[in-house]
Amino acid sequence: MKFLIINGPNINMLGIREPEIYGREDYKCLCDLVSDACEKAGIECEIFQSNHEGDIVDKIQASYGRVDGIVINPAAYTHTSVAILDALKAVGIPTVEVHISNVSEREAFRQVSYVSYVAVKSFIGLGLDGYRQAINFLSDHIKNLKNA
Ligand code: DQA
Repeated sequence: MKFLIINGPNINMLGIREPEIYGREDYKCLCDLVSDACEKAGIECEIFQSNHEGDIVDKIQASYGRVDGIVINPAAYTHTSVAILDALKAVGIPTVEVHISNVSEREAFRQVSYVSYVAVKSFIGLGLDGYRQAINFLSDHIKNLKNA
């Protein structure tokens, strides 16, 4: 099984950006956690981060037929990007959404998530551990789909 892990704008600034909201662990810590979780679950993974909406759309399109699952934290594009939602719908790859912070308790403009329209599940406000939980959930979800 192969997963694509996508992180949107400013996730590369983890550890520096608003540590009271996103914590003190940096982006490398996140990549190490993701690699470790995938390895433990026997999943091959590719980790991708971009600050550009179109590059994220291109990456999702390029994953068609190549990956079994997508874990995505679209960051600010969560709340604005119909293009990322449409790309995920186009490829039809099972997708799980992650947010490090508890967006449900933050500003009004963070209360809409376009990606949640396609995500099979959302892991919100669990810190970096949300990625580990998302990977394990998606792995079980895909296994169940294959056995159904
Ligand atoms: C975020 C929440 C978004 O509202 C914000 O724009 C981000 C990160 C999170 O992981 O909590 O950049 O997706």
